[in-house]
Amino acid sequence: MLVAANWKMHGSKAHIHEFVDGLRLVEDVDVVVFPPSVFVQELVQCAPAGLLSGIQDIGIQPQGAHTGEVAAEMVAEVGGTWSIVGHSERRIMQAETDDLVATKASAAFRGGLRPIVCVGETLSEREAGHELAVVERQLAAVLDRVDVNDLAEGAIGYEPVWAIGTGKTATPAQAQEMHAFIRAQIAAESPRAADAIRIVYGGSVKPDNAAELFSEADIDGGLVGGASLKADEFSAIVSAADAVGKG
Ligand code: 13P
Repeated sequence: MLVAANWKMHGSKAHIHEFVDGLRLVEDVDVVVFPPSVFVQELVQCAPAGLLSGIQDIGIQPQGAHTGEVAAEMVAEVGGTWSIVGHSERRIMQAETDDLVATKASAAFRGGLRPIVCVGETLSEREAGHELAVVERQLAAVLDRVDVNDLAEGAIGYEPVWAIGTGKTATPAQAQEMHAFIRAQIAAESPRAADAIRIVYGGSVKPDNAAELFSEADIDGGLVGGASLKADEFSAIVSAADAVGKG
């Protein structure tokens, strides 16, 4: 199981120290915290053994005249190990295309980071019955650019846009349907990769709904926004992942 904290544009040095002090890790759940990029190094330096960190987005080049961008290699140099790519807030607010997201997933691997590649449909896409087609298209772009066996070292984050920050969680059945669909798409290229890859759910994951989501066969953890800012709430979600006993 993999449980990740996406702090978005929240946090401070003081918050990192308070969070780390209050966090309860467990042996069988990988935990990654994604603070704002400027704080990755601070988190790496004070993280207890087993707590991983990463960046919420990366540039596509290893270096060069790209003002404001951060390369995966730079994140790796300060001890980060993961990157989120393709979060819907960036797809929408920064107009990131499927192809750019796929290029970022590839850049993450090049720089030594494991990407969590986010996919997910908007409310209007779901209401039009297009959710499977949208996610299929988003994932196909990634599979075009990244070797499926490499991708298996990273993760897919299924985050229905209508469930993010809204308090409206996908039902376990809705999430499971999409996770199984994603796994089948990966299995069509490599059954081994489909078995190995972690597909995590994001969108209003809270301590009181985590267990039922994580119990679904194809849900391998969570990508948590709001509830990841407080160590006690986030720790409760980590222990819910542990309690389902999937290892
Ligand atoms: P919330 O948990 O606040 O809905 O955010 C989910 C998310 O976007 C994580 O990447």
